Amino acid sequence: MSQIKIFDTTLRDGEQSPGVNLNQLEKLEIAKQLERFGVDRMEAGFPASSKGDFNAVKTIAETIKETSVTGLARTVKSDVDAAWDALKGASEPCLHLFLATSPIHMTYKLKKTPEEVIETAVSMVSYARKKFPQVEWSAEDASRSDWNFLAQIIEQVIDAGATVINLPDTVGYTTPLEYGNLFKFIKETVPNIDRVRLSCHCHNDLGMAVANSIAAVENGATQVEGTINGIGERAGNASLEEIAVALKIRSDFYPYKTDLKLNEIKRTSDLVAKLTGMYVQANKAVIGRNAFAHESGIHQDGVLKNASTYEIITPELVGVSSNTLFLGKHSGRHAFKDKVKELGYELSEEKLKEAFNLFKLLTDRKKEVTDDDLFTILTEIQTDT
Ligand code: KIV
Ligand code: ZN
Repeated sequence: MSQIKIFDTTLRDGEQSPGVNLNQLEKLEIAKQLERFGVDRMEAGFPASSKGDFNAVKTIAETIKETSVTGLARTVKSDVDAAWDALKGASEPCLHLFLATSPIHMTYKLKKTPEEVIETAVSMVSYARKKFPQVEWSAEDASRSDWNFLAQIIEQVIDAGATVINLPDTVGYTTPLEYGNLFKFIKETVPNIDRVRLSCHCHNDLGMAVANSIAAVENGATQVEGTINGIGERAGNASLEEIAVALKIRSDFYPYKTDLKLNEIKRTSDLVAKLTGMYVQANKAVIGRNAFAHESGIHQDGVLKNASTYEIITPELVGVSSNTLFLGKHSGRHAFKDKVKELGYELSEEKLKEAFNLFKLLTDRKKEVTDDDLFTILTEIQTDT
């Protein structure tokens, strides 16, 4: 099993979700939970972006000791200096420098030639390495960049001292096959690539962020970047909890492991949802409210006989206390009987049939039948002589 490092950017890219604004205390609370979750590195913010973010990164760097803390910076000296002031108290300070490499970004945004981009990246990486023991360099919009140009700039940036190379799919445009091939090409083409950690960073615009990240891992990425609950710019980033659980559940297929404590997933997800106000959709993989809920009678019957019939992930693995059998119009007699027993009632076959019929009538009027509804039905049939 090869080890995959987990780089969490919930507090930076995740916080870039429209409408999300975390204060210093909220960021610190999430950082402590990320440390408990076992991420290898957390990006605490963008120190040069605001006084508030600077202070939050500084506090996190000085508090979190089990996890490496990083901060984002553009390739300008003032950003690197601000990041150093914020991060120098960290146990392993890391700088995350980024500069775009795609023709679209270089022409319209940076207004720089490819040669100028190489020169800026190289000089800022070597400037940063005079302060930071760890420098990650990201080729922003790598997935829309020319591969030969990428290989050329990466080789020089490594010679300048970068310790991690990240190839972001900034606009969520790539596909698993294409992104995997990009990593394969970089591994095969850049002569000094084995001196650094190679990282993937995917956005979810086409709903492929998790699949793209896993394709990168299969082709040589040893670090995965993402966020909790997949929050982030536009359609968000790759969901770390989904990647970690996919690697674990399909370990027959994927020979990779992480140091994440998977049973902290639910707690981490709930905290991030509560503090960001970005609530998780019910059918979200791994942590959605319905991820361990069964409604149809056939599924409920199967799960009551043996949960593995319809559950590939046990709720306990991700810190969820148990599965739920949702009582609605598709539910069957078996789950109903089980629920009645759980509520403390022992009914004769005849009374059970009567109660089940009342329950079915109610399901045509209500989407979800609650315990209170059931108590009303059970009281009714018991007093009905
Ligand atoms: O998506 C992206 O390109 C980024 C960079 C800043 C690494 O978030
Ligand atoms: Zn990003």
